[in-house]
Formats: sequence, structure tokens, C-alpha cells
Amino acid sequence: MKKTVFSMVLSISLLGASMATASDPALFLAKCGVCHSKGGQAASINPADKAGAVWKKYFERGRHPVDISSISAADLEKIVEFLVAGAADSEKPAAAVIPK
Ligand code: HEC
Repeated sequence: MKKTVFSMVLSISLLGASMATASDPALFLAKCGVCHSKGGQAASINPADKAGAVWKKYFERGRHPVDISSISAADLEKIVEFLVAGAADSEKPAAAVIPK
């Protein structure tokens, strides 16, 4: 019984952690915003620019036009989660994380 309660608490807190990641723009702003910003070297981009399925495939298929291998696979995975959570076809499309 104690074990069950413990694992329930654990899975709820893990769920909380992954939700915080999906809604927290910090990594996206730090890793993508360094180039993608108003007045930066690349145009501003936002989660709502693409549908979730498109974001999932974008980096998997190496569509990004310049080398971003300095971003670790783990960070990129979290950023994709964030992009999908605010994608055009999500419940809360995020169109102004990086202002145009
Ligand atoms: C080293 C600088 C740099 C970093 C870091 C970077 N990008 Fe880019 N990105 C560019 C450049 C340059 C282009 C092509 C020119 C443009 O679109 O303004 C581009 C293009 C894109 C495009 C295509 C734009 C379009 O209109 O289709 C997307 C989408 C994109 N980047 C997303 C991202 C995401 C998400 C991240 C973070 C994981 C990221 N980029 C990190 C420089 C960067």
C-alpha cells in the first residue's frame, strides 16, 4: 500500500515536471532565440508557425537550414515538446513567444 502511494506521488510529480517543461519557454528562448529574434540573424519563429506533427519531423529529418548541433539532443527534445504544446493545431497556439 505504501509502495502504491509512493509510486502514485512519484508519477504525479514526474508528470508535473514534464508539463512544466512543455510550457516553459526558457530553453526555446535561450537556444533558438539566440538567432531567431527581432533584429537577430534569423527571422522570429514561434510554436504556432507549424502544426505539431510538422515540428516533430522538422529536426528528425534535418530540415533546419543551418547547423544547430551545438544544441544537445536532450535539450532539442524538450524544445520540440514545447513547440508541439503551442503548435498551430494545439489547444493553445503560441504565436508571440518571440515577438515579430
Ligand atoms: C545559429 C543560429 C540559429 C539557431 C541556434 C537556430 N536557428 Fe533556426 N534558422 C537559422 C537561420 C539562419 C535560418 C534561415 C533564415 C531564416 O529563416 O531567417 C533558420 C531557419 C529556421 C526555420 C525555418 C523558417 C521558415 O520560415 O520556415 C525554423 C522553423 C527554425 N529555424 C527553427 C529553429 C528552432 C526551433 C531552433 C531552436 C531549436 C532554431 N531554429 C535555432 C538560424 C538558427
